[in-house]
Amino acid sequence: MTDVIRLERRGDIALILVNNPPVNALGHAVRKGLLDAFRQADEAPEVTAVVLVCEGPTFMAGADIKEFGKPPQAPSLPEVIEVIEGCRKPSVAVIHGSALGGGLEVALGCHYRIARSDAKVGLPEVKLGLLPGAGGTQRLPRLAGVEKALEMIVSGQPIGAAEALEHHIVDELFEGDLIEAGLTYARRLVEEGRGPRRSGEQTRGLEGVDNEALIRAKHAEVAKRMPGLFSPLRCIAAVEAATRLPLAEGLKRERELFTECLNSPQRGALIHSFFAERQAGKIDDLPSDVKLRPIRTAAVIGGGTMGVGIALSFANTGVPVKLLEINDEALQRGLQRARETYAASVKRGSLTEDAMEQRLALIAGVTDYGALADADVVVEAVFEEMGVKQQVFEQLDAVCKPGAILASNTSSLDLNAIAAFTKRPEDVVGLHFFSPANVMRLLEVVRGERTSDEVLATAMAIGKQLKKVSVVVGVCDGFVGNRMVFQYGREAEFLLEEGATPQQVDAALRNFGMAMGPFAMRDLSGLDIGQAIRKRQRATLPAHLDFPTVSDKLCAAGMLGQKTGAGYYRYEPGNRTPQENPDLAPMLEAASREKGIERKALDEQYIVERCIFALVNEGAKILEEGIAQRSSDIDVIYLNGYGFPAFRGGPMYYADSVGLDKVLARVKELHARCGDWWKPAPLLEKLAAEGRTFTEWQAGQ
Ligand code: 3HC
Ligand code: NAI
Repeated sequence: MTDVIRLERRGDIALILVNNPPVNALGHAVRKGLLDAFRQADEAPEVTAVVLVCEGPTFMAGADIKEFGKPPQAPSLPEVIEVIEGCRKPSVAVIHGSALGGGLEVALGCHYRIARSDAKVGLPEVKLGLLPGAGGTQRLPRLAGVEKALEMIVSGQPIGAAEALEHHIVDELFEGDLIEAGLTYARRLVEEGRGPRRSGEQTRGLEGVDNEALIRAKHAEVAKRMPGLFSPLRCIAAVEAATRLPLAEGLKRERELFTECLNSPQRGALIHSFFAERQAGKIDDLPSDVKLRPIRTAAVIGGGTMGVGIALSFANTGVPVKLLEINDEALQRGLQRARETYAASVKRGSLTEDAMEQRLALIAGVTDYGALADADVVVEAVFEEMGVKQQVFEQLDAVCKPGAILASNTSSLDLNAIAAFTKRPEDVVGLHFFSPANVMRLLEVVRGERTSDEVLATAMAIGKQLKKVSVVVGVCDGFVGNRMVFQYGREAEFLLEEGATPQQVDAALRNFGMAMGPFAMRDLSGLDIGQAIRKRQRATLPAHLDFPTVSDKLCAAGMLGQKTGAGYYRYEPGNRTPQENPDLAPMLEAASREKGIERKALDEQYIVERCIFALVNEGAKILEEGIAQRSSDIDVIYLNGYGFPAFRGGPMYYADSVGLDKVLARVKELHARCGDWWKPAPLLEKLAAEGRTFTEWQAGQ
């Protein structure tokens, strides 16, 4: 046996124990150990049954993702599972935690499966740009039916144990000790004379339904909901093979399709996203023994768009939260907004009435700062004006208990200046939520000059508690996400002056994979936000730079986006579908004329490069200034806060994959033609000259 696999005997039952922290991934040693253990159990004449149990917090969570892209090492997972399924003694997989990907495939290779009632099972490979490549696409439909298998494999979403039982993926649920449950079940099998029952030989799931219709419907759904993704269509093709081919041929087809996915650039990008997200939670220069402050109660100042969303985020995770407003009228508006948001979820069926009332009961409205004295963390979300922030932070400093974390949700103001309004700047941190704060996963945790290690680490823990993806950023105008998006939006608008329409720019970027085009996005958030930012930035803008003017023209005409019924697009009352705004064309022509630009048709690649490379060039500056810890953190911000396509891995990974020399060449061309907004970032020039990538630089080379 290997270190990670132990084979023990409990009477005439062989117990195979897997111990490969943290998630029992099926790396080479585990595969080899499982193969040997099952072979030994099979060949030992006195063994009557085999029980497979994992130690630690979870069953096997899948293949070892770090091995993808490296030379394969025998035995492969399909080979191991073939041996497991072929065993002549009945085997039981005992599932706790999560049986995911290759982990569930191993369990499906076993003859019986029991699951602790809080366990989950799933085939999430599609999220990594893959498909289940060790028999999952062939065995799951045979047990659970084609409909359920397609749903699980194409969405990648795990299901709970009770649902798995309902769909014949597991045979029984249990509570309590894993080994005890496994041995009891195995003894029962032996007593009842039940031998091996191989998933690959089952047919129940394939019969009695119009599988072709199910497959057609899934194709239509994928075309609509997952455009541009490579692996979902291959997932469907693999399940289709299960409906048409005998097991051995189906497995062969699955392998071919798996290899196609493995070799696709999307797999690399999605696996980058997986590790980038986990890496983002780590702060390089923080001592490992830093203490976390307990967070039991919270408070939010300001019951507007953001404040209410932040209060909901706390209530959603069971943390009591006080919501403070300037007066009772504003407070009631905020509380009403909280109730309406939950009521909409109840209406959609994603929340029960009871849960809504429980969560609302956690939100207490107040108008007196004295009520915040016991809060462990206070998040300020008042107007974006330094004077107002000053008033709020001075009052917080006066009333909050020692050790309370004082956080600001400012999107662009200087956090160090805000911290200086208090006598405890080490307790001040930025918690920059994204709108709607109760929905968006991203949280930029802004580390001020004086923020203490303890406060920073606790702020990251708060993010985790709120189920956010938290990324540490430094202080600068717009932090990471918005600072980059200013460049992106500005270039998108310059394209309007060159001859494009909002429809063309939005379509080009959607085709690239962005969840939304920049102009539909601006209409959604309101054009006045950008106008206020430009007003502030103009004060310090060098004379040779200027902003495009279309947005200012729309603002001057009172067209602020969806909230006024028109912006770059026009909106019918009660309908958010963008229509052409007939008042825009003369404004575009005027904007071009004023700058002496002859309008011309622009091609899609030019539109995409102009916007995306603007992100990349600014990202390079941010990296070099140390505002982001690593390039993958910038990717995480864009993937979780700005609708950047996951299959491209984020703007910095995308630039690496295009080649930094090519990106730099385009940036230089644009610099020569469009002026100093395009001054190449020194880091981009350096890495391109050295033939390196942003990812390599983050590794500190
Ligand atoms: N391979 C390698 N490392 C893995 C891993 C895997 N499959 N799954 C998790 N890890 C690592 C993480 O990178 C992290 O490492 P770190 O501590 O060094 O950052 C550590 O395990 C803990 O992971 P999380 O922080 O994500 O822990 P959680 O408790 O929040 O979540 C989990 C646990 C639900 C298992 C989650 O990690 C997860 O979803 N993992 C991925 C599961 C997956 O995608 N499996 C399919 C793999 S592909 C496959 O099986 C192909 C097959 O069909 C042939
Ligand atoms: P908002 O205008 O919707 O809400 C602000 C609320 O603060 C109002 O309800 C107002 O009554 C209240 N308020 C003002 N002064 C107060 C005081 N002294 N004490 C208590 N309450 C007070 O503004 P919004 O959009 O919620 O923004 C709040 C903060 O969040 C700003 O700093 C903004 O930059 C930031 N932010 C906004 C995002 C957005 O998309 N709207 C995204 C991320 C951050």
